[in-house]
Amino acid sequence: MSEARIQTPGALPEDDVERSLRPRGLDEFVGQDAVKSQLAVSLEAAAARGEALDHVLLAGPPGLGKTSLAQIVASELGVPFVQTAGPALERKGDVAAFLTALEPRSVFFVDEVHRLPRALEETFYPAMEDRRLPITVGQGAGARVVTLELPPFTMIGATTRAGLLTTPLRDRFGIQHRLEHYGPDDLAAIVRRSAAILGADLDEAGAHAIARRARGTPRVANRLLKRVRDYAEVRAGTRITAEVADAALDLLEVDSAGLDRLDREILRSLCEKFGGGPVGLSTLAVAVGEEADTIEDVYEPYLLQRGFLQRTPRGRAATAGAWEHLGLRPPRDAALF
Ligand SMILES: Nc1ncnc2c1ncn2[C@@H]1O[C@H](COP(=O)(O)OP(=O)(O)O)[C@@H](O)[C@H]1O
Ligand SMILES: [Mg+2]
Repeated sequence: MSEARIQTPGALPEDDVERSLRPRGLDEFVGQDAVKSQLAVSLEAAAARGEALDHVLLAGPPGLGKTSLAQIVASELGVPFVQTAGPALERKGDVAAFLTALEPRSVFFVDEVHRLPRALEETFYPAMEDRRLPITVGQGAGARVVTLELPPFTMIGATTRAGLLTTPLRDRFGIQHRLEHYGPDDLAAIVRRSAAILGADLDEAGAHAIARRARGTPRVANRLLKRVRDYAEVRAGTRITAEVADAALDLLEVDSAGLDRLDREILRSLCEKFGGGPVGLSTLAVAVGEEADTIEDVYEPYLLQRGFLQRTPRGRAATAGAWEHLGLRPPRDAALF
C-alpha cells in the first residue's frame, strides 16, 4: 500500500479525544443530580458574594467524574484551575510555591489528597482556615517563623479513599460530596453524548448495550465506546447497534455483568482457591498478581456494588451471586454470603 492511510476525517489524537469528552459545564455533566444541584447553590452563593467558594472534598471510585467536576467548578466560577496531586507534594516549600502563586479565588485541585504526606497536612490547616502560611526562615538559633498571607482560594481535594483522610483535614473541607456509580440510563446518555462528539453512528440499543457493561463508570463507558467504534468500523460497517456492541464486547472479554478479565480472576480465585473465602485482601492480591491497593480502589467497589463480593471482618468473601455468575457450584461447606 502507498502513503494513503485509513483515517476518519477530522480524527483527533487520543489525548485530544480524552479532553474533548470531558463535560465542560454543570449542564453537560450527566447524572449525580443531588451533587450537581447542591454545588450549583454553593457556586451561586459564592459568586453573589464575590468570595472564593468554600473548600470542596470529592470522594468516590476512579472514573466517576471527580476531576471533571473540579474543572467545571473553576470554569463556572471563571477562575484559574491549578492542579497537583498528594504524592507530588513532598516538602512544605512545594505547597508554599503553589499557594503563594495563586491568583485570587483560584481553584487549587489536589488529586489523591489521601496520599498527601502526613507531615504536610499541618501546613494546610492554617492555609485552608485563615489563608495563612507560617514558614520557617533561617536555621538554628537565627531561625524564625514568618507568616505569609495567601490570596483567597478554593481547595478541591479528590480521593478514592475518603476513609484514609485524617479527621482534621477532612473537617476543613466545608463542602463534601460523594460520587456514586451511575445507573444505566445516565451511562447511556454519556455514551450518546460521547458518540456525538466522536462522530460515531450509534443507535439507542447500542448505547444501552455499552452502558450495561460499563461498571457504572463513565470513564469505562467512554473506553468501551471507543473500542466498539473500532470494531464497528473494521468488522461491521459503521452503525453501532446492540448486536455490534455485544459482539465487540465479547471479543474484549467484557462479560454480561460488565466484569473484565481481572474482575473474574478475583472472583474465580476466591471461589476456586479459597473455597469462597473469607480471605485477606493481601492474600487475594497475591493470588491474582495485582496490587492490593488497585483491587481495593478500582475493582472491589464495583464487585461490592453488584453484590458479587462481601467484606467481612475476616476478609473478602464470594457471594452466592458470584458462584452463579461464574457457573460454579459452591462446595457443601462453603460459608455463603
Ligand atoms: N457525569 C459525567 N458526564 C459525562 N461524562 C463524564 C461524567 N463523569 C465522567 N465523565 C467522563 O469520564 C471521564 C473520567 O472522569 P474523571 O473526571 O477523570 O474521573 P475521576 O477524576 O473521578 O477519576 C471524563 O473524561 C469524562 O469524559
Ligand atoms: Mg481524576
